[in-house]
Amino acid sequence: MAEEGFVKVADVGELGPGDMKAVEVGAEPVLLVNVDGTIFACDDTCTHALASLSEGDLSGEEVECPLHGAAFNVTTGEVLTPPADENLKTYQVRVEGDDVLIGPANQQA
Ligand code: FES
Repeated sequence: MAEEGFVKVADVGELGPGDMKAVEVGAEPVLLVNVDGTIFACDDTCTHALASLSEGDLSGEEVECPLHGAAFNVTTGEVLTPPADENLKTYQVRVEGDDVLIGPANQQA
């Protein structure tokens, strides 16, 4: 049984290292990213103007927005490059067997 507050959003096999995938948690679009074998989750929607980051470019821990090029660290949610100036929320991730589970948002630092 998944721990309370965690929902299955994907199978582990769907996300190889360097892959990204947008999923919905409730009504929230969330971006799953496999960085060197570890799966992270953050908001999929750019904090600048509503683009889907899953359609951007991933390089290591960094995703670049497809619309105006803002970059974020997907492991911390931190914005790295304008024009965005707000961090993304990140979410707790669990892997149980073949299931990728997303939990509550992490507290912002
Ligand atoms: S919408 Fe992402 S940088 Fe503008």
